[in-house]
Amino acid sequence: MAEDFDQGAAASSPGASQAERGVLYIIACAAPPASGVAELVSLARSSGWGRIQVIGTPLGMRFLDHYRLSHVLDEPVRSEWRMPWEPKTMPPPSAMVVAPATFNTINKWAAGITDTFAVGLLCEFSGAGLPILAVPCLQAELARHTAFSRSLEELRSMGVRVLFDPDAPPQARMPSWEQILAELNGMPPS
Ligand SMILES: Cc1cc2nc3c(=O)[nH]c(=O)nc-3n(C[C@H](O)[C@H](O)[C@H](O)COP(=O)(O)O)c2cc1C
Repeated sequence: MAEDFDQGAAASSPGASQAERGVLYIIACAAPPASGVAELVSLARSSGWGRIQVIGTPLGMRFLDHYRLSHVLDEPVRSEWRMPWEPKTMPPPSAMVVAPATFNTINKWAAGITDTFAVGLLCEFSGAGLPILAVPCLQAELARHTAFSRSLEELRSMGVRVLFDPDAPPQARMPSWEQILAELNGMPPS
């Protein structure tokens, strides 16, 4: 899959100065907070991420606010693999954030089931040393499923940072976009 990337674009670490943070991939899964991802894009841009690529899961694409995103992104939102005859447009990432991360995507990512472009990217770059932040958003009932705790353990063992408070009330299932960005920007560089 590395062939998917435009290697010509420079990527640097999020520990670098604001102008040099590099390329941020934001992966949005199919849960309601995905409708606010444009806000994360704007905040990330203000904190120095030079190039931002949003990738939606196939169902996640239905939750995104494409109108708002079109005003804050330079690149179209991606959801599918590039075919061999299509141009390479994505520079390799310097960091990745998965927000919101669904129960489904978390479990597939941990298990290595790459049936969506989004999970394929996550599997490809996990363990590559770049900062990856996962922000699960799910009901308490699903959070109690044993697959979820096993998956989080697996992902953490691969170096993935997980921002999740199992005791948070339902209305605070997701941290704010500001909190998510602060966590990402505070992660050590690769
Ligand atoms: C309105 C709606 C809200 C949903 N909210 C959540 C949620 O908060 N967390 C979650 O894990 N799944 C949620 N789901 C279920 C996921 O969308 C479903 O598991 C889907 O297969 C996830 O696909 P993805 O992981 O490829 O994005 C919701 C579905 C709908 C239709």
